[in-house]
Amino acid sequence: MKSIITQSFVRVSLLLLVAGSLLLSSCKKTFNIEPETVLTPDQMYRNVYDADAAVIGLYGKLMGLAKQYVILNELRADLMEVTPNADANLKEINEQSATISANNPYASPKLFYSLINDCNDVLKNFNSMIKQNKFTQDQYSQRYSDVGVLRSWLFFQLGLHYGTIPYVTDPLENIDAVKDPSKYPMIPFKQLIDSLITFTNTLPYVMPYPTGASINTGLITTVDGNNTKRFFIDKYAFLGDLNLWKGNYNQAASYYRPLMEHNGYDLDNPNSLYSNGDQFYQEFRQPYADVVANNDLCVGYIRYKETDTASLIENNSQGWRSMFARTQDKLWLQQWLWVLPFSSSFSPTNPFIDLFSNNGGSYLVMPSQNAVDNWNSQKQANGFPFDARGNFTWKTINGQRVIMKYLYNYVDGTTLLPINPLLKNGQWFLNRAANVHLHFAEAANRDNRHKLAYAFLNNGITTVFDTSTASGRDVTNLQNTLYDAYPYNFDARYGTYPYYRGDWYRHGGVRGCARLVNSTVTGDSTIAIENSILQEGALELAYEGERWGDLVRIATRRNDPSIVANAVYAKLSKDGNPNAAAVRTRLMNPANWYLPFKWN
Ligand SMILES: *[C@@H]1O[C@H](CO)[C@@H](O)[C@H](O)[C@H]1NC(C)=O
Ligand SMILES: *[C@@H]1O[C@H](CO)[C@@H](O)[C@H](O)[C@H]1NC(C)=O
Ligand SMILES: *[C@@H]1O[C@H](CO)[C@@H](O)[C@H](O)[C@H]1NC(C)=O
Ligand SMILES: *[C@@H]1O[C@H](CO)[C@@H](O)[C@H](O)[C@H]1NC(C)=O
Repeated sequence: MKSIITQSFVRVSLLLLVAGSLLLSSCKKTFNIEPETVLTPDQMYRNVYDADAAVIGLYGKLMGLAKQYVILNELRADLMEVTPNADANLKEINEQSATISANNPYASPKLFYSLINDCNDVLKNFNSMIKQNKFTQDQYSQRYSDVGVLRSWLFFQLGLHYGTIPYVTDPLENIDAVKDPSKYPMIPFKQLIDSLITFTNTLPYVMPYPTGASINTGLITTVDGNNTKRFFIDKYAFLGDLNLWKGNYNQAASYYRPLMEHNGYDLDNPNSLYSNGDQFYQEFRQPYADVVANNDLCVGYIRYKETDTASLIENNSQGWRSMFARTQDKLWLQQWLWVLPFSSSFSPTNPFIDLFSNNGGSYLVMPSQNAVDNWNSQKQANGFPFDARGNFTWKTINGQRVIMKYLYNYVDGTTLLPINPLLKNGQWFLNRAANVHLHFAEAANRDNRHKLAYAFLNNGITTVFDTSTASGRDVTNLQNTLYDAYPYNFDARYGTYPYYRGDWYRHGGVRGCARLVNSTVTGDSTIAIENSILQEGALELAYEGERWGDLVRIATRRNDPSIVANAVYAKLSKDGNPNAAAVRTRLMNPANWYLPFKWN
């Protein structure tokens, strides 16, 4: 037993090495580095272990995009601002400059394209492997689909930030070739989304990689203390997002629904699926807060001291903040869908300490006044006039505003000082349940399920679909939407006589978990609820890379560029940027939302 485990650890390390050399050989083509030995595809793609190495190698290289991804998706939007330490490149991104320098590294699409090219290479080799029976059909389907979805996500990011881009799906000898528009026609973002939907619809396997002892997959394993089950892009979430962008609302909701019900995920405690309090009711379902013991990921106060602001639950093991700090335990698994860990003991180096920290880092970006105002304009159920998620997302340290979400694995949970400035542990947070719930609400709202959208945004199906408060009432016809069609038919009944524990009975809603009062709906419900969902994303998901996309998606849907222009204007003007008004005018033209597709 022990020796098998030891062997598999050795195997993982070898895989990482093999993956490194494999990608290097395609980088060779890309960057014209002469390698000392050249491996041919026949020597590299021999069996499923080599295929796994290729997949892990892609995700390893992807981590090199973490910083640029966060800068593009947050600093271009309204919640993140530059500090006085920021260089001219960051300032250009921050104020949506019309003249981005040719050498601005944050604006270069090159690394995205280099990764896309690696994906193309891997996909091509997987196709020849399956023809030669070098792995099984299932092994092929899982890996091919994962890389296919990852590549689509990379293209999607390019479309979001560069607008019109070359959609190239064959591996190139030299990626500079895509800069020649005569060879590779450029396609606009909208058409790109159609192409990505068409392509992803052909993929044979969109579940998570299977887990469990009986299934032969080397991809779900432990690497340096981290389980890999949440390393890979969640296919349902991304397919839902593509359809949400496209305006296929029912289809989008139909992708989010099985995900929220953890379809294909290996529950921690599968044998007690229907017992009270287990993972079944909680994983990905945004459960309501544990107000007694605070063993949750919600905003909470010490029981019976709920009117004392100082009793806010705040540490690395309980409450909302802890999701950014805790190890991969049950609660972590209930929320996180896609996370890549940075460790001080392996490369690449965590870029977020340098970006955010004013202790051991360069402190280049910080929360905007506009973001701070968002949190401080909220009201909690106990009347406190602020959103406590702001208290966890950023802090004032040495008189400076510091974005904290990415620093909780680096600092001491109480003193907030670095445990050791050289130990730059951290994580790249790519997707989680709260984001999926907000996207589900957005889709449902546009599909004329306003009340259901409201329940997901506010405090859950059980509460919102209950018209009675009589104690001991029969809830058979309350607390559910079973009269509706899939994907909108939910059972959230929580009854005693007759007894019900509907599979959604613990649903708490995003604002419910944040302990906020309900959002208000005035005027047109579709627009009012959509505005609240957009605002909620700013409060819940700030700095996790969602903001620019959320603004652009809703502005595009409503054909209302002022959603983007006013948001960026609010940031720049509150922070005293003299260009605020000019930037607003520029962003009223959607053609100016995109960076030039160029690299040197
Ligand atoms: C977290 O905070 C709560 C409330 O202050 C406290 O009861 C609990 O012991 C803390 N846990 C740790 C590990 O510090
Ligand atoms: C990943 O592994 C590192 C190093 O062992 C550990 O410090 C960290 O807590 C792990 N991350 C999670 C989310 O469990
Ligand atoms: C949370 O933030 C609010 C608003 O900035 C502040 O008034 C409150 O004291 C903070 N609470 C804690 C426990 O730091
Ligand atoms: C929010 O609305 C629900 C009913 O939809 C109600 O039960 C709940 O008390 C409201 N929450 C607050 C804090 O007012």
